[in-house]
Amino acid sequence: MLEQRVLVTGGAGYIGSHAVLALREAGCDVVVLDDLSTGSTAAVPDDVPFVEADAGDMATVGEVLGRHRIDAVMHFAGSILVPESVANPLKYYRNNTGVSRNLIEAAVAAGVKAFVFSSTAAVYGIPDEIPVLEDGPTRPINPYGWSKLMTEQVLRDVGRADGLSHAILRYFNVAGADPAGRTGQSTPNATHLIKVAVELVTGKRAGIEIFGEDYPTPDGTCVRDYIHVSDLADAHVRALQHLTSGGDDLLLNCGYGRGYSVREVLDAVAAESGAKLAIRSAPRRAGDPPALVSDNRRIRETLGWSPRFDTLATIVGSALAWERKLGEAAKT
Ligand code: UFG
Repeated sequence: MLEQRVLVTGGAGYIGSHAVLALREAGCDVVVLDDLSTGSTAAVPDDVPFVEADAGDMATVGEVLGRHRIDAVMHFAGSILVPESVANPLKYYRNNTGVSRNLIEAAVAAGVKAFVFSSTAAVYGIPDEIPVLEDGPTRPINPYGWSKLMTEQVLRDVGRADGLSHAILRYFNVAGADPAGRTGQSTPNATHLIKVAVELVTGKRAGIEIFGEDYPTPDGTCVRDYIHVSDLADAHVRALQHLTSGGDDLLLNCGYGRGYSVREVLDAVAAESGAKLAIRSAPRRAGDPPALVSDNRRIRETLGWSPRFDTLATIVGSALAWERKLGEAAKT
């Protein structure tokens, strides 16, 4: 049992709400802090204490950390859309860099022992080699990637100076939903490929565009490494376990080490749903690298992590089940 008291920022959001379930299953007491800008209290279990606040509000966060005698922080809160970061970089440097910096200061001041940070494969930019290793060069090609990379650096520096034990988890493309149907991706105006595609299947959208078919990839569309959100939540629990049992700081890719093109993903959605998708070609989207696939040997070796839901059919099937559930709920 992992008997830790954990503050989960962004716990009312997509990935955070899956982590809350996994942490509780592992034996932790959880407190959720979320500003509800994209999350919803419906995603927070009734018996989990919930604080509506900005994760960068040091006074509130400090009070919460003290009152609940928090041992560890998992920091999911943030802005996550690559194209939006290109259009509105200041939002990203505030929500992902400034807020995280304040949260880290509050955590150090409160004597928090471990900090797990949601970073991104976007820190790699356009990699020289695929699959990418954690120690490869970091050259983001969009403000989203930079905003997360800066926070990684803050954590490394604070880790050295103040002894804050930390894990930096670089997510590849997170998708799917809790296999038991307890939570999923509910974010309005979603732009992520699988979410958009399942919204199309359930009639929430009229069509889907493929952004660029002239990339230097096998079928000309972008290649990504899709990871099921419940496997990612499990990686967080294992990372925390590692840190709290005295393990070294972590820098880990979170992916399956296998890439799928946009076309392959859409084929999987069509196969799972039996629907014929209305697909249109569109120009490339700003800030998109052609291919991004993880080398995941380090997380497998360090944490003993191995995926449980690593087929496109499982990812897409769970996303579709959740989308249908949302559709039913909207009708009642
Ligand atoms: N795409 C389409 N049509 C759509 C939506 C997406 O063709 O309607 C394409 C994109 O152009 C891209 C691919 O599908 O080539 C995946 O796009 P997503 O928006 O689903 O995800 P991103 O790859 O842009 O970004 C995600 C996360 C980031 C993370 C990154 C790492 O949002 O946090 O994966 O690969 F950094």
